[in-house]
Amino acid sequence: MTVLHMNKGAGETSYAKNSTLQSKIISVAKPFVEEAILGVLCSDIPESLGIADLGCSSGPNALSVISEAIDIVHAKCVRMSRLSPEIRVYLNDLPSNDFNNIFLSLPEFHKKLKVDKGAGFRPCFVSGVPGSFYGRLFPSKSLHFVHSSSSLHWLSQVPSGLNSEGGPPLNKGKLYISKTSPECVARAYADQFKRDFSRFLGSRSAEMVTAGRMVLTLMGRISNDPSSESAFLWELLSLALLAMASEGLVEETKVDSFDAPYYAPSAEELKCEITNEGSFAIDYLETFEASWDYFGCGEEYVQFSGVRVAKMVRAVVESMLESHFGGGILVVMDELFRRYAEMVDDYLSKNRAKNILAVVSLIRKDAPRSL
Ligand SMILES: C[S@@+](CC[C@H](N)C(=O)[O-])C[C@H]1O[C@@H](n2cnc3c(N)ncnc32)[C@H](O)[C@@H]1O
Repeated sequence: MTVLHMNKGAGETSYAKNSTLQSKIISVAKPFVEEAILGVLCSDIPESLGIADLGCSSGPNALSVISEAIDIVHAKCVRMSRLSPEIRVYLNDLPSNDFNNIFLSLPEFHKKLKVDKGAGFRPCFVSGVPGSFYGRLFPSKSLHFVHSSSSLHWLSQVPSGLNSEGGPPLNKGKLYISKTSPECVARAYADQFKRDFSRFLGSRSAEMVTAGRMVLTLMGRISNDPSSESAFLWELLSLALLAMASEGLVEETKVDSFDAPYYAPSAEELKCEITNEGSFAIDYLETFEASWDYFGCGEEYVQFSGVRVAKMVRAVVESMLESHFGGGILVVMDELFRRYAEMVDDYLSKNRAKNILAVVSLIRKDAPRSL
């Protein structure tokens, strides 16, 4: 959690410039966001409405869900001839996130709100909340709607036990669960996800009002096999790093000891943790396949080539690679992702790559009264 951050700024390799896939995922979840917000407002419109986006990152996606949420609230209030509530917007990410990039776009955001919504629109207060969503971030019962997109597949840490001191790394030569990984590796990943997701739910449960709603999208899995579907992205990165290690460009022992803090859960795993934690009713929970080949960006459709996939993956994992391999890897970073792009192209030409999304919509249950 001290290392992970998406590539900062707005340059060529930044997350801001390479997050089309994540923006598409946000649009897939749009109908669920709308339904959830209308659900929050169905019985009453609160004076002050708390909305949080967890794992907001930086760039255009950071404020897009928030703008959409505000539009939905405003339209509902207009339909009811009511004054809109004061909206408290909390943008959360890890402390090393490029919050400045978001803050710099806020004056434009507020200006646009004023113009679009007119004089009847009450103030909207936006704050940045640095910290991990695997713990408490907000005061009790302060949130009405929580959103998180493309973030909850990041674990709070690499599963413990994969790299025991003195012993050989259990997942040698691999960055994630692979076809050749011992079974205990997949188990360690699944256990870490369970612990993390349960802590996430517990924290939100304390922070949300009764009947508050939460919409989560993350990378998921349909297959029972965790080394299938989108795991090919990690598999190819392992192969690219190993090829470079064989040429002395990166240290092989570092490749062996690198494990990604990532897990794509199945619908069953998500459902099981939600049920065990007990604070939320499931309104919708599904994993489904979204296309890798073409990703719509507004009116424009762009082919998902190896280069595009490599840019997207680089914007996300570069900080972790630098921290694990040391600053020396920066010299070969371009070369690594050039090779990776070629491998992805080759893979996409021979396989139908699967991109599995999990969409979860939850309702905070009434807390049991203590006697
Ligand atoms: C791929 S980005 C998604 C950003 C944005 N929601 C979007 O859809 O474009 C994932 C974000 O989750 C953040 N993240 C990962 N683990 C986190 C944690 N434990 N607490 C808060 N944010 C976290 C990362 O720093 C990163 O900015």
